[in-house]
Amino acid sequence: MKRVDDFRLQLGKHELVPIMVGGMGVDISTAELSLEAARLGGIGHISDAMVPTVSDRRFNTKYVKTKLKQFKFNVANTDKAVVKFDLGLLAEATKMHVGRTMDAKRGDGLIFINCMEKLTMNAPKETLRVRITAALDAGIDGVTLAAGLHLGSFGLIEDHPRFRDAKLGIIVSSLRALQLFIKKSARTNRLPDYVVIEGPLAGGHLGFGMDWAKYDLAVIVAEIRDWLKAEQLDIPLIPAGGIFTGSDAVAFLEHGAAAVQVATRFTVSKECGLPEDVQQEYFKAGENDIEVNTISPTGYPMRMLKNSPGIGDGIRPNCEAYGYLLDANGSCQYIEAYNREVALHPDAKKVKVMDKTCLCTHMRNFEIWTCGHYTYKLKDTTRRNEDGSYRLLSAEHIFRDYQFSTDHQILLPPE
Ligand SMILES: Cc1cc2nc3c(=O)[nH]c(=O)nc-3n(C[C@H](O)[C@H](O)[C@H](O)COP(=O)(O)O)c2cc1C
Repeated sequence: MKRVDDFRLQLGKHELVPIMVGGMGVDISTAELSLEAARLGGIGHISDAMVPTVSDRRFNTKYVKTKLKQFKFNVANTDKAVVKFDLGLLAEATKMHVGRTMDAKRGDGLIFINCMEKLTMNAPKETLRVRITAALDAGIDGVTLAAGLHLGSFGLIEDHPRFRDAKLGIIVSSLRALQLFIKKSARTNRLPDYVVIEGPLAGGHLGFGMDWAKYDLAVIVAEIRDWLKAEQLDIPLIPAGGIFTGSDAVAFLEHGAAAVQVATRFTVSKECGLPEDVQQEYFKAGENDIEVNTISPTGYPMRMLKNSPGIGDGIRPNCEAYGYLLDANGSCQYIEAYNREVALHPDAKKVKVMDKTCLCTHMRNFEIWTCGHYTYKLKDTTRRNEDGSYRLLSAEHIFRDYQFSTDHQILLPPE
């Protein structure tokens, strides 16, 4: 019976344990978590979501305060079009986050950054270019293009000296999305070095509509694999979404996948950025406590725990401090929903906004508990403490369980 450790992922000159820990914003996949994956010979991800905000928390910088001060005059204004990021400071924050992570890297594995196109920041192209460029400047091993079609992203960085040496990959949820990406970036004469195929059971935003349950990861992987073969393209494929045991991973590796991307099991690791009380909520969740809804202002469906405190909360939009989801016109679906509720309830001290959420604020504060479909199985991956709480696991324990387990077994931590 095979185990994940019988396989290796070859990426250029790197031979890796074929386990990639997926990016989880906002700072849920921390530097510490990514460093463990790299130390153990796999690939870890940090995330480029809200990096100035994350930097303030981790490195005591003052990016949020400075931005809020600059745009304070606009706080009560319903129109947020003037609220822009300072690109120099954005580059500085990204370089610090990435640079410090790379300085701490040990072992043979790699560290990538998950770069989300949907983080439009009131200047989609310019801010994306700055974020990817700064990450490359700071020595990131690779960039995973996520949450979006990224049709122009290679073009944004094609003049960067590391454009051909850094590993560049893309996340897709369909063959069609991959075909479009390859067609649109053909001009740069560069294929992605790997393709993450994310199915409907993943955490975070989904690349499907609300009919996500109709889709099957294995079917999409087979479609993409067969098309690449017919086109004589050799690109490592990395399925993601619902791969919960080493044996789940082996099934994909035996059918032509080069590695797997996993995330949910690491949400209950000590190195994960979620606060421990939130991690206990993940452990406690039953199958019916998880939903896919449309409250994300990005327009993508998102999976989360139903008891996430951010759901329905009608706070005033915090774009002057954050503003990561302002689109190219300086708008956000949450602002529209919030303004509508305020207009409908002019005398209310605080409104409820059920259809959208202020994702920046609530992801920043760990109040939207996004999670994968199999979060309800996390309780079976550990032991309970005397007080009834669940014991957190080390990232190493989880990583090695994926690497060495057989027969769908999950190794519990020592008594
Ligand atoms: C808490 C959480 C946050 C996530 N955030 C992001 C994100 O910011 N960007 C992204 O591309 N994927 C995100 N994902 C998706 C993961 O990177 C990964 O592809 C997927 O969850 C793998 O499936 P699994 O969780 O069933 O193992 C997130 C997943 C989780 C569980």
